Amino acid sequence: MNKMVEQLSLNNYKQGIADLYNRRSKTYDDSNWHLQICRRLLEYSQVSYGHQILDIGTGTGHIVLEASRIVGNSGRVIGIDIAAGMLEKARDKAEASGLGNVKFQMADAESLNFPANSFDRILCANTFPWIENKARTLRLWHHFLKPDGLIGIHTPANTAYVGYIVFREVLAKYGIELEPSNRLGTLETCRNLFLNAGFEEIEIRTEQHGSYISLDKAKAAWGGNYLPTPGQPENTLSRLSQTQLQQAKAEFEAELEARQTEQGVWNDLTTWYVIGRKLDEKNAGKL
Ligand SMILES: C[S@@+](CC[C@H](N)C(=O)[O-])C[C@H]1O[C@@H](n2cnc3c(N)ncnc32)[C@H](O)[C@@H]1O
Repeated sequence: MNKMVEQLSLNNYKQGIADLYNRRSKTYDDSNWHLQICRRLLEYSQVSYGHQILDIGTGTGHIVLEASRIVGNSGRVIGIDIAAGMLEKARDKAEASGLGNVKFQMADAESLNFPANSFDRILCANTFPWIENKARTLRLWHHFLKPDGLIGIHTPANTAYVGYIVFREVLAKYGIELEPSNRLGTLETCRNLFLNAGFEEIEIRTEQHGSYISLDKAKAAWGGNYLPTPGQPENTLSRLSQTQLQQAKAEFEAELEARQTEQGVWNDLTTWYVIGRKLDEKNAGKL
């Protein structure tokens, strides 16, 4: 398999994401959680024999590897990602499994270049929150889907990840708005986002993957673990004075402590699986 060095020219925000996942790539597969999500997405997107699949934000290739077996010899799966470290893991796994119908490319999901009507399925697991311009990018992906093809996206709901929810709430009191666009809002705004990009027959399945976590783990969401945020490249915490920072941190910790139970802190992980169809124009009028 081709292991040539690839390079992308990324803005600071996306370079931050690539750096984050290059660091995470070493331990990413230690947990089974992402694999489970990917398997569900494959099932809900009705991936089957012979399909041409595009996996966006493929990471260590969970979807690509699973899909490769389903689509068989007459199918093809392409996984794209901006993090070289994640792609390297994915390629190693595909090579070790001897998969001949898969390909990985280093590419930005927002500026892909495939012919129109190329794929039966476009899948995107655990990645959509990172997309900067979600409306425009969905329209681009719609273009790459074959008529009657399905898009399948997994994304956390607004309420997900207790540490970040409390972090966001506390910082809002200090005039700092975090993560404004890396959640999809209400079910209605999510549905409209996909409708406006041209998808139809939109189905959103809601599932709860939450669990109790330790107080320490919840507290780790404080700015030390700052995540890049779409449209907000710099670390916004630097806008606070030292006194404000200490005060905000104390409020953040107090709120999490107040949420602690004997089992730990409930970490909501409401997730949405959004499935939409690109209508075959011949049939569009008949529906
Ligand atoms: C949480 S991982 C998900 C990986 C895989 N889909 C899974 O569920 O295991 C998110 C991946 O999205 C990639 N990513 C984020 N923004 C991207 C973009 N604009 N274009 C391509 N990949 C991107 C990251 O590099 C990372 O590998």
